[in-house]
Amino acid sequence: MFTTKTQRQGAVWLCVFVPLWLVAAPPEKTVWDGVYAAPQAQRGQAAYTQYCVGCHKADLTGIEGAMKGEFFMERRREDNLETLFLDMKATMPRGNPGSLSDQTYVDIISYVLQTNEMPAGSTELKPDVLDKVDVVGKDGPKPVPNFAPVLSVGCLIETGENRWVLINASEPVRTRDSFKKIEKELKASQDRPLGQYTFRMADAENFEAPTNVGKKVQVKGVIVRSPAGNRINVNSIEPIAETCQ
Ligand code: HEC
Repeated sequence: MFTTKTQRQGAVWLCVFVPLWLVAAPPEKTVWDGVYAAPQAQRGQAAYTQYCVGCHKADLTGIEGAMKGEFFMERRREDNLETLFLDMKATMPRGNPGSLSDQTYVDIISYVLQTNEMPAGSTELKPDVLDKVDVVGKDGPKPVPNFAPVLSVGCLIETGENRWVLINASEPVRTRDSFKKIEKELKASQDRPLGQYTFRMADAENFEAPTNVGKKVQVKGVIVRSPAGNRINVNSIEPIAETCQ
């Protein structure tokens, strides 16, 4: 069937690539894709009214809009719903954190989405899919906001005494905790390709920058964009590979 060597090689490549393509993960959803069901949001509203309304108000605008409108979106966008869930569970209801079932927290999240005009769909939101639903604005993904805790993968170089720079760095993404080593995150960083960003790394000498010069690293910290240049105020450095191309 295959007459030339090139054709035979082509056939081999097809066999290698097609299965990989078939098992690729489905694309992530966003909060605009109907990720919760309307009856669930109703249950969420009942729980919210019982446990949260006293401090957060009936229209969710209490505590500077922690769960509503622009403040909520700036605080949560370019992240997934798991972070909101984990933060809620770890701190709320204030005075008795973690006292509700996982499903009840997720129902409350459904109600929060509904109140922020994100549409309902046909299936309920479940705790185990939260990390596959991205929070983005109505007009789609954007760069992470200034001063957000972020993660970027790049090549660590030293440009002067205690002057550390991350070059060929990937687009910064949110991290839930810029101090802690999170295995799941580090694993994802190993597969993250280098990018085209450059960041000055403030305080990097306090996080083992000298021993990681020339390596491919995962850097976490707070992103500060300014006309003078972009920097990451470093909170952790993890080596990923001994060399960096
Ligand atoms: C006794 C008052 C009180 C109650 C009840 C309460 N909260 Fe809060 N909530 C706060 C305060 C105060 C903050 C500001 C941050 C802090 O001090 O922890 C806050 C912050 C938040 C935030 C923002 C956290 C962040 O880091 O952005 C969320 C989300 C939240 N609350 C959800 C809830 C939910 C859901 C409930 C009900 C299950 C609830 N809260 C009940 C007082 C309360």
